[in-house]
Amino acid sequence: MVEAVANIGVVGLAVMGSNLARNLASREGNTVAVFNRSHEKTDTLLSEHPEAEFVGTTSYEEFAAALSKPRTAIIMVQAGKGTDAVIDELTRVFEPGDIIVDGGNALFTDTIRREKDVRETGINFVGAGISGGEEGALKGPSIMPGGSAEAWETLGPILTSIAAIAEGEPCVTHVGTDGAGHFVKMIHNGIEYADMQLIAEAYDLIRRGTGKNPAEIAEIFTEWNTGELESYLIEITAEVLKQVDVKTGRPLVDVILDQAGSKGTGVWTVQNALDLGVPVSGIAEAVFARALSSKTEQRAAASELPGPSSTVAVDDPDAFIEDVRQALYASKIIAYSQGFDAIVAGAEKYNWDIKKGEIAKIWRGGCIIRARFLNRITDAYLENPGLVALVTAPFFTDVVSTAQDSWRRVVAGAAYAGIPTPAFSSSLAYYDGLRADRLPASLVQGQRDFFGAHTYKRVDVEGTFHTLWSGDRSEIESEGSSH
Ligand code: 6PG
Repeated sequence: MVEAVANIGVVGLAVMGSNLARNLASREGNTVAVFNRSHEKTDTLLSEHPEAEFVGTTSYEEFAAALSKPRTAIIMVQAGKGTDAVIDELTRVFEPGDIIVDGGNALFTDTIRREKDVRETGINFVGAGISGGEEGALKGPSIMPGGSAEAWETLGPILTSIAAIAEGEPCVTHVGTDGAGHFVKMIHNGIEYADMQLIAEAYDLIRRGTGKNPAEIAEIFTEWNTGELESYLIEITAEVLKQVDVKTGRPLVDVILDQAGSKGTGVWTVQNALDLGVPVSGIAEAVFARALSSKTEQRAAASELPGPSSTVAVDDPDAFIEDVRQALYASKIIAYSQGFDAIVAGAEKYNWDIKKGEIAKIWRGGCIIRARFLNRITDAYLENPGLVALVTAPFFTDVVSTAQDSWRRVVAGAAYAGIPTPAFSSSLAYYDGLRADRLPASLVQGQRDFFGAHTYKRVDVEGTFHTLWSGDRSEIESEGSSH
């Protein structure tokens, strides 16, 4: 009979699960029980990593028996039905007070449902976003757990022992209750999509504007990575652009098919931002850009459509490159600003007490969007927790003030040259919309009232009004929309 010697267990030993289990085992005070449906994976992990002193198990009963109470297990299987199957098995062998953690990329509404169902058995359920990919799982991810305070009491120290460290602090916090953690991870992924799209547009502009080859552009990104744009995504971009394809000897980026995939987390971000009424234009354009890239039939049919030759006439390449860098920085600020707006709206709708400063803090390390300027975002929210728009924080207002001439030159130049920059352009449009003193929404209201009698407000008096468009066009005060 297995003795209850493990303080934490991992179910699901694919690369992410195995790496997380190894990370846990490498930390002082952790003994890790592991289980995988196909036992070969368990045997392989134990034989390849004897130093981890894993407690290998071959049944859920044995797995539960190996765990000291309150039994705590992290599920690391592909998000979806497989998660429910493992939850069912764990609730069968666990007892009230034990803790089940879903470490997959689950949709937060699934987590809200699961937390409610599992809580009815007396067992705690935690949905934890884990960011940083396979390397992060092994060396230190950013972790975004949502669940009860009771669960956090046991789980907090364990997750803190494996999280990345940024500025001397662990990149993990109790995000909030039930689905809060997976919601924040979803927003993280939306920002990730925007960040990646913005970097890709910057690369495309520099390539088309200066004729530099990928290896030369890699050097530019490496240089940018020493300054205010320092981040994981900028760092890996330089690595990808440096890579030469062994088969052809050409830059790898030139032999990769230009059709972007998506496991869908960024799509969730946009769907939920739309439901919440939060404009996440940069994130949305990044999702749409991936979809457009895969419309092969339409792209083939459109390839002969009239338009400029997609090369930018650049007199001073260095000045152009600096313009692109400034435009990238300003656009990234908009993407993160919009992401945090969605977090605020989600917290309000789902009744979570999410602290934006704490989320910015745990994103400074371990996760895919980790970046030097997240320190600045952290400062902005800690200095003013009620900040209504990140871009209005003094530091970021200064950045955008410095960047905006470049930003406008880049967007205008790209449009004139026929180079698609949906994320750059939509971020600038959002910025100008946010700061405009009057928007043409007034005309939209007039149109809606004309065809649908949907009424409108006035700038000069309180009340709701409707014009009798098909009658004498007089204005009447109305009690609200006609339907
Ligand atoms: C992370 C990443 C990761 C991401 C996958 C799939 O935080 O480690 O966000 O969870 O979901 O890399 O990304 P795609 O949605 O682009 O397929």
